[in-house]
Amino acid sequence: MTDYRTIEWRDAVVRMLDQRLIPQKTVYVDCADYREVAAAIKDMVIRGAPAIGAAAGYGMALAAFRSRAADLHSLRAELAEADTVLRASRPTAVNLFWALDRIKSRAADSALVSIEAVRAAILDEAHAIAEEDVWTNKQLGLNALPLVPDKANIIHHCNTGALATVDYGTALGIIRAAHEHGKKVHAFVDETRPRLQGARLTAWELKQLGIPHTVIVDGASGHFMRTIGIDLCTVGCDRVAANGDTANKIGTYNLALVARAHGVPFYVAAPTSTIDLNIPNGDAIKIEERAAREVTHVGNEQITPDDVAVGNPAFDVTPAQYITAIVTEAGVAYPPYESSLRAMVERARALHQSRRAESAR
Ligand code: MRU
Repeated sequence: MTDYRTIEWRDAVVRMLDQRLIPQKTVYVDCADYREVAAAIKDMVIRGAPAIGAAAGYGMALAAFRSRAADLHSLRAELAEADTVLRASRPTAVNLFWALDRIKSRAADSALVSIEAVRAAILDEAHAIAEEDVWTNKQLGLNALPLVPDKANIIHHCNTGALATVDYGTALGIIRAAHEHGKKVHAFVDETRPRLQGARLTAWELKQLGIPHTVIVDGASGHFMRTIGIDLCTVGCDRVAANGDTANKIGTYNLALVARAHGVPFYVAAPTSTIDLNIPNGDAIKIEERAAREVTHVGNEQITPDDVAVGNPAFDVTPAQYITAIVTEAGVAYPPYESSLRAMVERARALHQSRRAESAR
């Protein structure tokens, strides 16, 4: 377990570590209302696809526990409203919709005939989403071990660590697992303009984990591949389409192209909760456009001329052809992804089901 908690349920309050302030300050934010959770996702108090999914689950639990509905019918109407508000918080990470779908179907169980029973079921499902995420990430890290040489320089983009998940991390979890298994890894941390998730968050996590690392600007990947040599790239994802096209933090596509030009393996870490088999390819992924101020300013300082035109897509899509493999909790998927991803999702479903059955015993 990591010392800090990205998100926690504490007696009808959702506590989150405010990721806007790290590394300068570690401040926790308490949300007592689902609208505050939606705002926290939108403002990136909490971010990273799996963490957003967990937050949505607990947001629904808040909606249930804080409701003053006098009967089940009114409670269900309030839950539908909370679901709509949370769904509108950020568009790209499928984990948000995946988690809300899970809560919705659990709460719809006709065996739940009292307000208390609905509340308990929703909270139980939110806890299950959070708990599964930690297991998933650790398993994903173990599955990736054979892909990491004993001594490896690794480029990582954005932040995919414990902060981006409930704990442990996905692509950063791969680096973490390799380090924990005695491999001599050195992480090259893309700073990740404009919100600097790499420079601020990934470097903060790696420092605490004692993993050697160097922060680099996003445009430096080609230079390091050509000079010192990079053994692999690991990135996370916000949504993987059925054909393997992957949406992740802006700049991921550029990194994949540079990696291909240098023959460097490019691995996507994808918990199956981030795989969206309902969409055929990356063209169907909605890319979030964020405020121009993220680009025109660094902190409170304006760095561009006034009124400059700005494009600020938060994510890009890396076509499947540039992805060497997609690592999941159920194993490593290789091209052709149409069949391998489907197999991973099915295998993961069985794995999670048997874990649930075991813990119920
Ligand atoms: O805008 P963010 O910080 O939420 O973007 C996060 C990423 O792009 C991550 O790489 C992705 O969500 C995977 S996190 C395990």
